[in-house]
Amino acid sequence: MTTAVDHERNAALLSWYAEHKRDLPWRDVGDPYLVLVSEVMLQQTQASRVVPFYERFVERFPTVQSLAAASLTDLLAVWSGLGYNSRAPRLRQTARIIEDEGWPKTVDGLERLPGVGSYTAAAIASFAFGEPVATIDTNMRRVVSRWNGEPLDGAAVQVAAQTALGEPSAAWNQAVMDLGASLCLARGARCWECPVADWCAGPDSYVPPMPQARFEGSARQLRGAIVRAVVAAAGTVQDLAGRTGFPAEAVQTAIEDLVGEGLLVENDPGRYSVAE
Ligand code: ADE
Repeated sequence: MTTAVDHERNAALLSWYAEHKRDLPWRDVGDPYLVLVSEVMLQQTQASRVVPFYERFVERFPTVQSLAAASLTDLLAVWSGLGYNSRAPRLRQTARIIEDEGWPKTVDGLERLPGVGSYTAAAIASFAFGEPVATIDTNMRRVVSRWNGEPLDGAAVQVAAQTALGEPSAAWNQAVMDLGASLCLARGARCWECPVADWCAGPDSYVPPMPQARFEGSARQLRGAIVRAVVAAAGTVQDLAGRTGFPAEAVQTAIEDLVGEGLLVENDPGRYSVAE
C-alpha cells in the first residue's frame, strides 16, 4: 500500500524529474521495440555511451522486422564498440520470436525472451505498455534502500519499490534512475540538492559494497577488438593477432570463446569469420 509519505515524496520526485530529466533519445518513445533495444544496450553500458550506438542502431534497424532479417555481420558492424557483443545475436533472436508470435503481454512472457531479464521485462512493460511495475536495478535498489533506512535486497526491494511506485510508472521509474545517476550516488551523495531528502534516511543507511577491481576489462577489450577486426575481414589467429596487436595465444583463447558463443565460425580450417 502506498502511504502518505510515498505520495508526498512522489510528488516532489516527479516535479523534480519534469524539470531535470535527462534528454535521452529513448525516453518517451512508447514503441516497445525501441525500448527493448535501448534497455538491452543499457544493461551493461552507461547511458551517455549508449546514445550514439542506439541512434545508429535504430536508424539501421528501425523495426522488429528489419532486425529479424539482419545478417550478423551487419548487426555487429553497428553494435561492436559497445561491447558484450553476444547481446546482438540474442537481440536478433528475440526480434525473430516477436515477429512470429507478437509481443508478450505480461512481464512473465517478456522475461522468457532471450536476453530479457526481470529488469528489462519491467522496463518494456512500464515504458511501452504503461504497466505499474518498478524497474529494479542497482540504482533503484540504492535509492529505495535509503528511503527505507536499511539495505534491501531480493524480495524486500521488490516489495519496497513496488509499494513506493508512483504514476505514471514510466516517469517514476526514470525519475528514480536519474536521481540515482545524478544525486543519490553510491559514494558522495548530493543530499543538499535532493528533492526527496525530507523523506529519506540518508546515504549512511545503505552504503553499497565497493565495486570489484575489473580484471575482466582487458579480456573484454580483446574480444571487442577481435570482433571488430573479423567484421572488417575474416582472418586466421596469426593474422588477427597482427591486426589487433594482442598476443596470438590470447587471441586463440578469445576466438574459441567467441566461436562457442556462436558469434564467429571457422569456415575454412584456421580461418574465422562472422557467423550468420
Ligand atoms: N539505465 C537503464 N535504463 C535507463 C533509462 N531508460 N534511462 C536512463 N538510464 C537507464
